Amino acid sequence: MSAWSTVFVTGGAGYIGSHCIVELLEAGYSVVAVDNFTNSVNGQGGEAPSLKRVEQITGKTVTFYQCDLLDKPRLNKIFCEHKIDCVIHFAAMKAVGESMQVPLLYYKNNIIGTINLLEVMKENDCYQLVFSSSCTVYGDPEHLPITEDHPTGSVTNVYGRTKFFIEEMLKDISHAEKSWNIISLRYFNPVGAHPSGLIGEDPTKAFTNLMPYMAQVAMGNKPSLTIFGGDYDTVDGTGVRDYIHIMDLASGHVAALAKLKKDHLRLKFYNLGLGIGLSVRQLIEEFTAVTGIPIRCKIGPRRVGDVDSLTYNLGTGQGVSVLQLLRTFEAITKTSVPFQIEARRNGDIVSMYANTSLAAQELGWKSKYTLEQMCKLCVRCFQVMVDAHNGEDFWRWQTMNPKGYRNNSSGGDTGN
Ligand code: NAD
Ligand code: WQD
Repeated sequence: MSAWSTVFVTGGAGYIGSHCIVELLEAGYSVVAVDNFTNSVNGQGGEAPSLKRVEQITGKTVTFYQCDLLDKPRLNKIFCEHKIDCVIHFAAMKAVGESMQVPLLYYKNNIIGTINLLEVMKENDCYQLVFSSSCTVYGDPEHLPITEDHPTGSVTNVYGRTKFFIEEMLKDISHAEKSWNIISLRYFNPVGAHPSGLIGEDPTKAFTNLMPYMAQVAMGNKPSLTIFGGDYDTVDGTGVRDYIHIMDLASGHVAALAKLKKDHLRLKFYNLGLGIGLSVRQLIEEFTAVTGIPIRCKIGPRRVGDVDSLTYNLGTGQGVSVLQLLRTFEAITKTSVPFQIEARRNGDIVSMYANTSLAAQELGWKSKYTLEQMCKLCVRCFQVMVDAHNGEDFWRWQTMNPKGYRNNSSGGDTGN
């Protein structure tokens, strides 16, 4: 791979970022990753432990920088030091509850961070972007399965609104400047871990999502699972979601990059031919201005194959209830997950699952992993992480307290 070989990954130390980097390296890409460790474990000397594990899995190296997207000069400096061909933008704060308590922090981090990134890309003549969006932009679905042309924007939480606003911003810049070549991927519910069990989800904030919480209960780290609502109009009264294996999600990004590359070549060719880029609206206005003939038109859904800021659902297309997931999880892991059904969670959606035919048609991508595999790999990863954490806690205790409890009642070596 000569051109299009280096991918810049923001939020690369995080859950989806680290798994995606495995797929990128295995597909032959070089990776330059950044993360500020707000939601991933910070190793010694600014290293990312998750990416060290990625190197172990792939036998390849990842260039990593501890960098906050809000620090634009530093971001620019890193960008300038490498010849970046395209960007995958994962970095964001994503806790729905927290986003309602500290909205400004979320707007600043997610939106200003994205604007900084886009400006740095532009300054460095890089216009190829894959953006991590979310099914949350659909709000309460009007129809199921959800297609990409489903209305967006009726989002009930701040986190989701940041995703919606960024999607709109990306559409606007794509319309205004034809050099941009952007794909937004709307993830449904990613779960599981890399088959090696070496990487998985290990946030600095508490787990609240169903599958990791369930795994913690199964391992005895939590006493029981609370199921939020048992009286929904679903197969068994519990909420329905589209759980997608993290490695399927990762391969969706490699497929999106391939699509960007193809469209980039097409755009280049098109621009060479015309010399200028006109939007459909501009063309119609131009026609009317010259001929005096008014053209009546209405805006319909995007035509498959048209090059614009593109959007794809990444899901399996299967709706699975909380109880169905729980029973599968118990059967596969041979564990028991004690649970109690309590009141509905505020703001929860009843059922949500994707129509994935656009991604199949245009990206040539389809999910492969079964629900059983998602459960199996989730638990294997937790087991490995618990072992690793015991070691890590021991190490932390040793380094912070080299003299044990002596002269140090509150913990941490004061050097006295
Ligand atoms: P994650 O928290 O594990 O990863 C995000 C990473 O970005 C973290 O390592 C965090 O430290 C980093 N980060 C945050 N703000 C940053 C900043 N200003 N500068 C540099 N780094 C920053 O989350 P994830 O599950 O891997 O999610 C990745 C992306 O996918 C996010 O954009 C998220 O909104 C989106 N998404 C996630 C889910 C999900 O359920 N996990 C679903 C839909 C969309
Ligand atoms: C799944 C189902 C719960 C926990 C979140 C974000 C969304 C998007 C995807 C990022 C629901 C039920 C859960 C528990 C339960 N992420 N549940 N007990 O709600 O689909 O969406 O992840 O973009 O923005 O909000 O995921 O895993 O929290 O819940 O009964 O302890 O499990 O009610 O039906 P959700 P989830």
